[in-house]
Amino acid sequence: MSWLKTVLPTRALHWVGAGVVFAVAGIFGAILFVWSGVYNIAAIDPHVPAVNWLITVAKVNSIDRHSNDVPARPPLDQPAQVQRGAVQFDMECGACHGTPAAPQTGLLRNMRPRPPKLSEVVDRHTSKELFWIVKHGIKYTGMPGWPAPERDDEVWSMVTFLEQIQDMKPDAYRQLANTDPERPPAGAPDGLQTCARCHGYDGHGKGKGAYPILSIQEKEYLSRSLQAYADDHRHSGTMGPIASGLSDKQMDRLATWYANQPSDDLPDDTSPASELVMRGKKIAEKGLPDQDVEACISCHVRAKGRRFDIVFPNLEGQYANYIADQLLAWKTRGRGRTREGQLMKPMSDISHNLSNQEIRAVAAYFATAK
Ligand code: HEC
Ligand code: HEC
Ligand code: HEC
Repeated sequence: MSWLKTVLPTRALHWVGAGVVFAVAGIFGAILFVWSGVYNIAAIDPHVPAVNWLITVAKVNSIDRHSNDVPARPPLDQPAQVQRGAVQFDMECGACHGTPAAPQTGLLRNMRPRPPKLSEVVDRHTSKELFWIVKHGIKYTGMPGWPAPERDDEVWSMVTFLEQIQDMKPDAYRQLANTDPERPPAGAPDGLQTCARCHGYDGHGKGKGAYPILSIQEKEYLSRSLQAYADDHRHSGTMGPIASGLSDKQMDRLATWYANQPSDDLPDDTSPASELVMRGKKIAEKGLPDQDVEACISCHVRAKGRRFDIVFPNLEGQYANYIADQLLAWKTRGRGRTREGQLMKPMSDISHNLSNQEIRAVAAYFATAK
């Protein structure tokens, strides 16, 4: 301390000493306060104003700061994103936040912080802020993070839906979120009604390209995909939580149901003769040797197919949007794959060597190749 005497007069030194004593007493006082249990953490009593202020400022500034690093929005199809966001919102977020068609339950009245009705608050946030909140969640509030943080594309789908929630009429929401699914047909396996909210009973998917067509796949691929979602080898914040609630037997029965549905009246997606489709056909059949991309059909044999003892997903007749979204998710290494798929050259390497335009082309080709 002797060096302090050389730079400060004695009077100032007294003030520094007093400051140190106060600071130490303050820290001990704070520890004693926390330790004693005097502060009331009961959710039914509001925070005192100073604590409320502290939490709010910390939260607002933290979201503001962290959302600066959110990468730009990817080029995804908007109607499909809104569709995807809507059903998931209804299944997982509505219980806390309420929905355009259903109010919040009375149980939430004494939750602190109370989950806000999102139609009243979304316009306070930029898209990047909404993305950050939905992806990361908020500590000590009950607001959960996205179940598959690898899948930024899924988080963007939810954000795109949230950005429309303010003006959404209850009837439009009910239809989009498919809140009242039809009754299951005779012989339907247990749990199919939940799947049908997105995939339909025929496995053709609700809404153009929001969900993959399941009826074009073999049972083996469908059940191993469900297993991979449950084990998080294949990452999806939509399918992961759903699949992890299924038993092996249920997965088997649901996969059998969808694999047995007819695929002769699949919805039309793109026009078969366009230049884009012709370009895609060449990539699918010949690959791009200069870019180290093999022909897709060297593995994805025509229609439902098996090669090298493993079943490959069929791409013919699949929605172009879905094919493109999967390839784009692999480009950022976020999609993952089934255990059996891990025996093959990774699709992430193949996707990496394709430009976004080439991805659109090959996706458009397979959508028309029924
Ligand atoms: C268990 C209840 C719960 C669930 C489920 C939940 N949230 Fe939240 N959410 C909250 C709470 C509580 C807050 C308020 C946090 C605060 O005020 O600090 C919140 C805040 C938010 C906010 C910021 C709102 C604001 O105050 O500006 C958004 C956006 C949001 N949630 C979206 C979602 C989405 C999308 C889902 C579904 C994927 C979801 N939440 C699921 C409880 C929940
Ligand atoms: C909330 C909507 C939703 C519900 C409900 C839902 N799915 Fe899905 N499903 C999706 C989405 C979105 C994908 C694509 C996910 C991805 O990107 O990996 C998907 C993918 C799949 C796949 C992989 C298809 C492929 O080509 O690789 C299977 C299999 C599947 N779902 C089966 C089911 C079954 C069985 C149920 C019911 C237990 C179900 N899903 C319920 C939305 C849903
Ligand atoms: C070396 C073999 C191989 C080649 C070549 C190949 N794929 Fe794949 N692909 C696979 C395997 C294996 C899977 C299944 C991954 C898993 O297990 O989840 C797959 C899955 C896919 C899927 C996901 C399907 C679904 O229903 O989710 C798409 C889309 C896809 N491939 C597109 C392509 C395209 C486009 C090409 C050509 C540019 C291509 N693949 C070339 C092996 C290959």
